[in-house]
Parts: sequence; structure tokens; C-alpha cells
Amino acid sequence: MTLKPTLLILALAMLSVFASAENGHQLWLRNTATSKVNVICKSKSATLTIAVNELKNGWQGPNNASVDLILKSHPAIVGDGFLLSGNAIQANTEMGLLYGVYELLRRQQTGQQINYEACNPSYQLRVLNHWDNLDGSIERGYAGLSIFWRTGNNALVVTETDTRLWTEYARANASIGINGAVLNNVNASPDMLKPEILARVKAVADILRPYGIRVYLSVKFSSPAQIGGLKDADPLNPEVVKWWNNKTSEIYKLIPDFGGFLMKANSEGQPGPQDYGRTHADGANMLADALKPYGGLVMWRAFVYQPSGGDRAKQAFTEFVPLDGQFRDNVIIQVKNGPVDFQPREPFSPLFGALKSTSVMAELQITQEYLGHSIHLAYLAPMWEEFLQSDTYQYGKGSTVARCTDGNLNPQKHTAIAGVANIGLDTNWCGHQFAQANWYAFGRLAWNNSLTSNQIADEWLKLTFLQNQSNAGTPIMSDDWTLNFLSPVKQMMLDSRQAIVNYMMPLGLHHIFAPDHHYGPGPWWGPAEVRKDWTPPYYHNADSTGIGFNRTKTGSNAVSQYSAPLNTLFENPQTCPDMYLLWFHHLPWSFKMKNGNSLWNELCFNYDSGVQQARQFQRVWDQTKPYIDAQRFSEVQRKLKEQSENAQYWKDACLLYFQQFSQLPIPYNVERPIHNLDEIIPTDK
Ligand code: GCU
Repeated sequence: MTLKPTLLILALAMLSVFASAENGHQLWLRNTATSKVNVICKSKSATLTIAVNELKNGWQGPNNASVDLILKSHPAIVGDGFLLSGNAIQANTEMGLLYGVYELLRRQQTGQQINYEACNPSYQLRVLNHWDNLDGSIERGYAGLSIFWRTGNNALVVTETDTRLWTEYARANASIGINGAVLNNVNASPDMLKPEILARVKAVADILRPYGIRVYLSVKFSSPAQIGGLKDADPLNPEVVKWWNNKTSEIYKLIPDFGGFLMKANSEGQPGPQDYGRTHADGANMLADALKPYGGLVMWRAFVYQPSGGDRAKQAFTEFVPLDGQFRDNVIIQVKNGPVDFQPREPFSPLFGALKSTSVMAELQITQEYLGHSIHLAYLAPMWEEFLQSDTYQYGKGSTVARCTDGNLNPQKHTAIAGVANIGLDTNWCGHQFAQANWYAFGRLAWNNSLTSNQIADEWLKLTFLQNQSNAGTPIMSDDWTLNFLSPVKQMMLDSRQAIVNYMMPLGLHHIFAPDHHYGPGPWWGPAEVRKDWTPPYYHNADSTGIGFNRTKTGSNAVSQYSAPLNTLFENPQTCPDMYLLWFHHLPWSFKMKNGNSLWNELCFNYDSGVQQARQFQRVWDQTKPYIDAQRFSEVQRKLKEQSENAQYWKDACLLYFQQFSQLPIPYNVERPIHNLDEIIPTDK
């Protein structure tokens, strides 16, 4: 066989591209310039130097074009937004110009139109929460150790490797609009506020600053007693107030643009104001007053529940709604998307829209604690889109969570959104090549909360996998690549979260994980000595009469926390959406679903379809081999195999376990389990 010379050159070019290291470390920032650009920028600063260099290094527009970076206010620009066109970017702030540069490059590299338009952020603060511990471990981290902290003799020495990595981290964040980073775990160590640790925080802040990222710290409520030598941490004790004031002033001397504090208080054993008979508002306001002179913020978490507090899903609402209006304007209540805990699917937390005189921000989890860690391919944008677009009805129809939190409906002074980061020291940052898409998607949605998950996946795939072979100013997106790589892989991403819901906990089931690691199934796990709301049977309530959590009026009445018409919609199993059915209802195994199936059969079909989807992902991926480098191809291939095995295990474990109660056969058109329950359930339970 003879190859035509042009084909031969193309083949060689592709070979050389594939041969070059593609380990994922470059994230979505792999593209380099294909032509020259002349950048005109009258002002000078560290941020603007970055902007100019980025434009030159990534330019894929017409050769020798000129681009003006104009620092000048305009009524259409809000905050760090910008006005974009093919040959000029105008912004009120230097960061606006840098964001504009990244947007222009993104559009060039993904083949999107560049019209004259204003692009403004949905939220002022777009923040990553790192659950990193001072010893370098990461709570719920699946991508290696912390990029900020480590153990050992030289743990606090700032090395060149540190600064290089922090710069790459900052650049990646800035490219998607992230402008805040909480550097440590919400289960915070009091040592965080010791001077030698703060010196390292300053070093990080100095690297992140030109990229527009402010640092924040999680703090422990009991710090004044634990490291300050005070007898307590009562927020109304003047000594305690003074201690926080002094500590805050010490921090701002080091880091003048320090962002503020994140607080997990009176939650899962953490200390808090209630230890002294005070309220969350007392605690939050004390910190807010300390930060106020410097423009700092308090992000106070609403993730609270007590073993004796009844239905866990109701408790945050019950505690926080009576406090509405009592918080200072520099306090934002940080609420997890769902009322329980980052499950594969939950309805939105009823706190969204309910707090009308308090600033509220959503907390999403990018790290896949409950979605297969860094082994399962789970693209989370569809979950976040579903959440942000959920209608709370709190201000009438159309009161989506997005509009309740971005200042459209609740005129809060500060608007924000947080994501629990999935970043670690792994070469590819996130453990799974596709987990990078979740970091990317979080940033993009934080910037624009009406983007679709489809649009974000499209961008991310092009930026992450399209080979940089362009020479004429536009990236080569051949029909072949679009048809055989982009379309099927995008569809796989879009289906991936629902697949996990199907094979882990369909139809509104939740929290039936094995204890501690939250990776595999554990619907049977419930030792008598463990608090009930930490055990799966508390959530699924399977017995001979049926399955599910009764949150209607005859149960915990959590439905009443939702505004009309949702409360009545959820109350009735005939109108409750199938995806939330067992979240709100305990129903007989024979319950007739909307499609006519019995609940038991429907459960079987759902589990089975999840397994089929995981198998399908393997097929989709195997066909992409000609379009992708060897390293990333085989890494993902290996993980998809493991995911399929795990999906099968989830299905078998859950169906065989629940079958003990339903006493019904698995429908014959469903593939048979291949495991036995006694192999799955450890004998020590
Ligand atoms: C979950 C998670 C914990 C975490 C907690 C929180 O319960 O398992 O590791 O500390 O959420 O968000 O505070």
C-alpha cells in the first residue's frame, strides 16, 4: 500500500502529536499559538503581563491581527466582566481583561463565534474549597496528596516545585473564572492560625494574586481556647472577640487581600457557638465583625444535624430559617446542594429561596465522594445544571436556585458559589482524566450559571482532546473527529451521572453506601452502636411492606419545607417525580409506577440499565482509540473496566439484599446477578 505524500505528512504529524507526552497535566490548556498577534495594552501590571502573554502564546486568530486590551469602565460591564470582540477586550478591572483573554482564546480554540458582547459573572465569588489537611492528606481526596500542605522536616519551606505548581493551579483556575480558594479542610485544625502556617498561606496568596485568586481559610471555632490560651471560645466573651480581632489583623498584615473565613460549626462533632448556648448568628457575626474593616467575608456552613434532631434532611432548614435576617451583610450561609450530603441525586435543599434576608451560597462537591471517587467516570455538570435550574417557587414560578443565589431574586450584597475541589498531586491533577471536566464545569457554571452541561462538555472535550494541528487560524475539527470522537464521548459524559444513579441508588434511594469510604454498596450496614442517621437502613427503610423514606405528612413531613406547589407535588406519590420517589415515600413493593411497572420491577430495571450503560461506555471508549494518545486512552479504558465491574457489584448487592424483603423474582428480561449475597456482605457486617 502506498500513502499519498500529504496523507503521509498528516500521519507523521499525528504520530508525533500522539507520541508527545499527554499525561493530562496541561488540563484544558494544551493549545498553543498558530499565528502571531499584536497586543496593545497601555497599562502595566503582573496581571496584564499574564494577559498579554496568554494572548500571544495561545492565539489562533488571523495572522498579524491586533488586539486592544482596554481598561475602561462601561455600563454594560459588571464586576470582573468584560466586553468581547475579535480585536478588543474592554473591562473595568485588570482581571476582567484576563478573563476576556481566556474567553477569546477558548472561542478560537473551540471554533465558537466571537461577537461583540458583554460577558459578566453570575456570582462575585467563585471559590474552590480544598479539604486539605496540614499533614498533606485530603479528606475525600482521590487524586493524591495536597498541593498546599505536606509533612516532614521541610514541610513549611516553599520550594520551586511548590511555586511552579501553584502557578499552574492559579492559571487553570483563572482560565475558567475561579477567584477564591479555601486552602484547608472544613474540619479545620486550630494550628491553621499559627504564625508559621500563616507564613505559608501568605506564600500561596502571593503566587495566586496576579491570577485574581484570593485565599480563604477554614477555621476552627474553638481556636481561641486551643491555641490562644483562653478559657473558652464563647462568641460573646470579650476576650474571645478580642482574640479573633487580633488574629484577623495579623492575617491582613501578611495578606492584605485575604478573603475571609469558612466555618463548619456545631456539625459532625465540630465545636461551635451552640456549645455556649449561643446561635449560629452569634458565632458568624463575631467573625464578620472582625473581618469587616478589611472587606473580608464569613462563609458559614448550614451543614448541621444532630443524632437526636429527627429527619436529618430537615435539620438545616429548621435551624437556619428562624435566624433569617440576623446575619451581618458580610456573612454568607453556605448550603450544600441537597438536604443530606452530596448524594448521586437529591432534591435541592429547601433552604434555597427560603432565606430571604440572608446571603446564601451553594456548596457543590466536585470531588466524587459519593460518585465513584476517581475511578468512575461521572461528569457532574448535568447534576449541577439540574440543581441550579430547579424551581424553588419561593418568589413565584421561575425562582430557580440559580436566581435565588445570584442576586436576581434575593438582593444579597455578596453572591458566591463554592465547589469542594478534586485536585491533588497526581500528574493529571484529578485522578481520572475525565474528572478534570468537573473542575472545568464548576468554574464555567460559577461564571455563567445558565450554561448547559452539553455546551460545557463540548468545550472541554475540544480543549482537552483536540490535537493542536491547526495552521490556518482555526482548529481542525474534522467531520470524522466530530462524528467518531466528540459526539459519542460527549454523549457518554452526559449520560454518566444518571448511569451512576441507576446502578447505585435509583428512584430517590440515597445514602446506602458502605461506611467511611462511601465507595461501594452497604445497604445492610447498621451496627447497633452507630448513630442511626449514619447507617443506610435509616435511609432506605426496606422491610416486607416496602422501601423508601416517608417524608410526607404521615412521616417526617420534610415536604412541608418546600414551597407550594412543590410540597403537594412531592407529597403525593402519583405526582412526585420518579427520580425523588423513594426520597419522599415509603411504598409497597407492588406500588404501580407511572409507566405501569411495579416498584420492585422498576428498581430491577433501573439497576440493570445502569450496568448496561457502564458496559456501553466501554464500547464507546474503545472506538476512540484512533483519535487519542496512548496514555490517556489506556488510563481511561482501565478505569471504565473497573467501573463496569463495580456497577455489576452494586446492582447485585442491592437487588439481592432488597430481594430478601420483597421476596419477588428478578424479572426474566433483566440480566441475572453474578455474585451471591453471602460473598458480598462481610460476615462481620
Ligand atoms: C460529609 C463527608 C465528610 C465532610 C462533611 C462536611 O459528611 O463525608 O468528610 O467532613 O461531609 O461536608 O463537612
